[in-house]
Amino acid sequence: MPFLNSSYEKWGNLNPPQPHLTKVDIEDKNSFFQIKYDKFKELDFYEIFGNNRSITIEIGSGKGEFIATYSRFYPEKNFIGIELKDKRIMTTLKKLDIENNSNVRLLKLFVDSDIVKYIRPESIDELIIYHPDPWPKTRHHKHRLFQKSFLDSIYPILKIDGYIRISTDDLNYKDWIVRLFNERDDFESMYPEGYSMIVPDDHLWTYFDEIKSKEGYEPCFMLYKKKVSGL
Ligand SMILES: C[S@@+](CC[C@H](N)C(=O)[O-])C[C@H]1O[C@@H](n2cnc3c(N)ncnc32)[C@H](O)[C@@H]1O
Repeated sequence: MPFLNSSYEKWGNLNPPQPHLTKVDIEDKNSFFQIKYDKFKELDFYEIFGNNRSITIEIGSGKGEFIATYSRFYPEKNFIGIELKDKRIMTTLKKLDIENNSNVRLLKLFVDSDIVKYIRPESIDELIIYHPDPWPKTRHHKHRLFQKSFLDSIYPILKIDGYIRISTDDLNYKDWIVRLFNERDDFESMYPEGYSMIVPDDHLWTYFDEIKSKEGYEPCFMLYKKKVSGL
């Protein structure tokens, strides 16, 4: 069975028809879901969610398939989607409702190695980065999210044994990411080769999985666990 069909069976329709939202609906959703970010202050997850449940952060949450759906299956976890584009935040907001996604918040922000300045040390259980922009031209590689400085910054904010889940359909970017992790001893790959082309059982098919696989590009998956440096 094609993976998209099995993903549909497991997670349901990831892109159901969106209700028309009035200005008031949008304001209500915005005030509930969007974190008002003060760049001089660390995010306080207890203040945001009113509980101390585990925290999963998705960087580049795009059109919101993952965060809107996964969060309904795992109400015992909290989720934060960080996305830089307003339009994509709006598309995600349409998929969220306050009753079923009370464990979700969105943050409009460009993520880079400054992430370490606004997230407390050892406070994140899981980081999801599906289809980060690949910046394929060599002269643009400096814009890629995955850099040594980025891994240096996410190391302290993840809990020990916390996971980073990554996917990309760009083989050059996959090699780049695997190389960056191979150069350090503070993360352990859950895949012997550093990546896998087999879709993990619990993977939720995102918008970019969909459009890229239609173009003939299958996603590669990476899964890294934070460990104590030097062990
Ligand atoms: C290729 S799309 C993938 C979206 C989604 N994860 C998926 O799999 O369908 C990359 C997304 O990341 C966002 N993005 C790229 N760089 C970012 C950054 N540095 N900080 C936050 N969002 C970023 C883009 O706006 C875009 O929505």
